Order: sequence, then structure tokens, then C-alpha cells
Amino acid sequence: MTETPAIEAIDLVKRFGDELAVDGVSFTVAQGTVLGLLGPNGAGKTTTVRMMTTLTVPTSGTARVAGYDVRTEPDLVRRNMGLTGQAATVDELLTGRENIRMIGGLYGIGRKDIRRLGDELLERFDIVDAADRPVRSYSGGMRRRLDLAVSLIAAPPVLFLDEPTTGLDPRSRSDLWEVLRGLVAGGTTLLLTTQYLEEADQLADDIVVIDRGRIIAQGTPLQLKRQAGNASLVVTVSHAANLGAARELLARTGADVHVDEGARQLTAAADGIADLTRVAGWLQEDRIEVDDIGLSRPSLDDVFLSLTGHRADDEDQEVSA
Ligand SMILES: Nc1ncnc2c1ncn2[C@@H]1O[C@H](COP(=O)(O)OP(=O)(O)O)[C@@H](O)[C@H]1O
Ligand SMILES: [Mg+2]
Repeated sequence: MTETPAIEAIDLVKRFGDELAVDGVSFTVAQGTVLGLLGPNGAGKTTTVRMMTTLTVPTSGTARVAGYDVRTEPDLVRRNMGLTGQAATVDELLTGRENIRMIGGLYGIGRKDIRRLGDELLERFDIVDAADRPVRSYSGGMRRRLDLAVSLIAAPPVLFLDEPTTGLDPRSRSDLWEVLRGLVAGGTTLLLTTQYLEEADQLADDIVVIDRGRIIAQGTPLQLKRQAGNASLVVTVSHAANLGAARELLARTGADVHVDEGARQLTAAADGIADLTRVAGWLQEDRIEVDDIGLSRPSLDDVFLSLTGHRADDEDQEVSA
């Protein structure tokens, strides 16, 4: 492979006074892929993104975006990237359409082109109906979509998204995921930060986990979840009388079975869908009625605990700014 990576972080360090907010972070992101930068509050995600997008100068180390160095070629970096920050960047008093027109103007895009592009973006992000209302009246989900639309005006090949779905309701969150998948399908490279393993799992090809400014793990979503332990198969039987029979069926997978009688629930370690379908088949053959059957995956909390030995929200994690 001779293709230039879309993003390279090279031993990035950022010091604020005595505090090392980012402490030697390196990774690469191949063109057209999605990297999830995952970590709890205060881990150093935003600071890393700010260094990679020329908003703050690294204390040491550097980054390249689309092959350009953030230290020596910041203008070229900016011309090849878009950024949606953690705080909304659009103007509240302007309408959605006016925001797009204004940013287009800043990029020096002609009036005719910006009108066409604006219509296209408003359509694509489903803001047409609200396009001529002031942003002040938008819902959280609409604002994020407008933010994203604005960051795409210059059609950047590399897009940085800092916690794009924090604060969104589940429906707006999955809508936004769809939009992001569309961008990637069109060839855009994405780096997104998130506090949610599920979000990284949904979108990212690779995940870098950071904690207190350092990378503590990296790999595909599946590799990370494996590291945190296997999935569990959870079965809730409809009738408590069937708990014993159901336990025997689950034990056939070779796993230890934990029974919670009060909840009529059985839990066993599982390899994945294969175990789920086998057990579902056996339950059906033996006519054991179930209220629910499913796989429960390790959460970010589980991943953190297994990697660091502490929970993501431990007290000693708090660092004053
Ligand atoms: N401008 C700043 N001045 C001083 N400390 C900062 C500044 N920005 C961030 N920090 C500190 O750096 C650490 C990492 O912050 P940040 O990058 O915002 O983390 P995250 O985005 O993962 O929540 C935190 O401890 C934060 O308080
Ligand atoms: Mg942040």
C-alpha cells in the first residue's frame, strides 16, 4: 500500500501547565475509513482533535491531514478538512439557509454555486422544511445536522467530528449515523470522538481508546469487545417452571449458566450469534416459551474496567483544569 493515510497523528503531546492533556498519541487513518477516538470525559479527545485541525499547536509531535503537516502547512490542512466541534458553531439568529450562505461566502464560493450547494445540503440533511427559520428554533438533532451540513460546504476529503451525537435523543442519533455512513460511502474519511462504545461500534472501522491522554487500546470494534470479555446470552423464560429445563439447554453450549429466579432470567457466556441461534432452536423444539432472548455485549464501562482496572467515571479520574 502506497496510499497516503488520510490522517496521521505522530507522537502528539499537549501540555497545559503541569498537566499532560495528551501524552504521546500516535495512529493512522486510511483514506475512506472511520476512526473512532473513544474515551471518557477529560481523556484528551477534544485536545487531540484541536491539534489535528490546527486550532491549537502541539507541545511536541505533529499530525498530517491529507498528507499535509499541521505545523508547517496549516493552510493546506484546513483546505482539506472539515470540523464539527463539540459546541454548535452555527449562528443562532440566522436561518439554516443563511448560515450556509454565510460560510460559503467565507470559503469564497460564488453566489450561484452556494445557492445550488445549499439546496443540496439542506435536502441531504433533511432541513428543507426548517431552512428559512432561525436556528434558535431548531431541535438538537436539527442543529447537529446543520452543523454537519455547514462543515461539508467545502467538500473536505477528511472530516473531524467531536462528539457529534452527544445530547441527541436515540432517534436523532441513529439518523445522524445514517448520514455519516452515507458520507463514508462517498469516500470521505471520518475521525469521530465519542464516549459511547456503541457509537464507535456502529460507525468505526478502527477504534483508538484513550484515557488520561494516553492510548490504552486500539483495534477493530470486535477486537476491543473481545478484550473486554465475551458476549453473554441472556434468556428470560415466560414461566418460572421452565427455568430448570432451560438451564439444561443452555448448559449444552458448554458454558456455565447463571440463573436469576426472580427475574426468570438465565445468563451464559456465548461466542456470538451461533450460540444464540442454537439455543433459540432448542428452546423452540422443547416448546419452552421465552419473553426475551438476546446477546448482551460488553459496554464501554466493561472495556474500560478490563483495560485499566478502573471505571471510566472513577473519582480519581477527575483532573482540575
Ligand atoms: N485550554 C485548556 N487549558 C487547560 N486545561 C485544558 C484545556 N483544554 C483541556 N484541558 C484539560 O485537558 C484534559 C483533556 O481535555 P479534553 O481534551 O477536553 O478531553 P475530552 O475531550 O476527552 O473530554 C482535561 O483534563 C482538561 O481539563
Ligand atoms: Mg471533548
